[in-house]
Amino acid sequence: MDSPVLESRKQQSITGTIMTDLEFVVPDFSTVRYPVNVVADMLNVSVPSIKKYEKDMGLEVERQSTGVQSRRYSLENIFDIAAHRRTSGLIKPLNRPITLTVHVKKGGVAKTTLAVNLAIQLSLAGYKTLLVDNDPQGDATSMLSFDPDLSVAELEEMGHPASRAVELHFGHLFKFGGAFSGHDLKDVIKKPFGENGLHLIPADESLDDLNVALTNANNSDFRFGLLIEQSRKGKLKNCDLSGYDFIIFDCPPSSTVAARNALVACDYIVTPVRMDRLSVKGLSRLTQSLSVFEEDYNRAPTPIVVPTMFQKNRPRTQRNLAMLMQHFNTRVTDVRLHHSEDYPKAMDEGYPVSIWKGASPAIRNEFRDLATEIIQRIIADVGER
Ligand SMILES: Nc1ncnc2c1ncn2[C@@H]1O[C@H](COP(=O)(O)OP(=O)(O)O)[C@@H](O)[C@H]1O
Ligand SMILES: [Mg+2]
Repeated sequence: MDSPVLESRKQQSITGTIMTDLEFVVPDFSTVRYPVNVVADMLNVSVPSIKKYEKDMGLEVERQSTGVQSRRYSLENIFDIAAHRRTSGLIKPLNRPITLTVHVKKGGVAKTTLAVNLAIQLSLAGYKTLLVDNDPQGDATSMLSFDPDLSVAELEEMGHPASRAVELHFGHLFKFGGAFSGHDLKDVIKKPFGENGLHLIPADESLDDLNVALTNANNSDFRFGLLIEQSRKGKLKNCDLSGYDFIIFDCPPSSTVAARNALVACDYIVTPVRMDRLSVKGLSRLTQSLSVFEEDYNRAPTPIVVPTMFQKNRPRTQRNLAMLMQHFNTRVTDVRLHHSEDYPKAMDEGYPVSIWKGASPAIRNEFRDLATEIIQRIIADVGER
């Protein structure tokens, strides 16, 4: 998934050259500002509501220094408003916390894009969301401005904050033999948009060590599920996950032990499907593996199938969609994610597309509407408090 800019940076860092931001655009999420109409769109509320929340919260929003001095909201402001809607009772918590695993045994089909943007949208909708990067490639980690490839020393040498480095991953929450000693959750978590934005457990290639440790452990496929269950009940001193409404795992395309763990641990398998023949055909394999899964593990996570890279008015797209509906029927979301150049452009600027200022509102809002639909589906299954 590396963009050309990223590649050029990696090659140069091997030669020890000090990088500049021209070679690799590193976004600083704390500096971007949004006008009030975009904020209203992102939070799916009216402009007067935003102003009311701001007043209720006593929130100080920066003003443009010239001209009409209109308000300019930071991402932190926006996520704080989302959290305020929840604390003031406008958003009800779900009846029980939910784990989603984004999975399909295929690369380049928008899994990571979906996992990251869905996590962002769930937190904008007021739900406390933890995204776990479960892929040693660390693409979700990179998409959220952290660096799975460089050490603290290398980042500092390049003039970037050390906090962008990845030192701990999901495996470090476990206590396994000698390798993992049960780190504190607070040391493992990153908060790219402040306290009220999504929380991220990053990954880098050392996540492979977790696969080795899991393979050698008892009940090797059940470890994630056990950790989540115990930590939600407050039984683990180092790791309290009880505050999260949603935990989302972004998985690699291959079936690693860690990926299997995320499947066993989840309530819903979220599967993006491109509207081409091979991707749609590949889904009959998913149906089969779900039934084998049920036999092996005695549980059946619910699939949520999301059509992606959708191109309207193409007969081929319509045919493939019809085939998808045949297989998965009501499990296919009504919201489709359309194919758009906004995705690679957002990535070049280092932003997830659904919060990229340059994105067309239609593309940005697709993820918001998808999150709304997924929340509705889950509420229909489990209810809310
Ligand atoms: N709807 C879309 N339209 C155009 N490009 C997309 C779309 N969704 C994702 N992409 C691009 O596809 C590539 C693969 O996406 P990614 O999420 O990394 O896939 P995966 O995690 O399945 O390997 C990325 O370059 C991403 O920007
Ligand atoms: Mg990926």
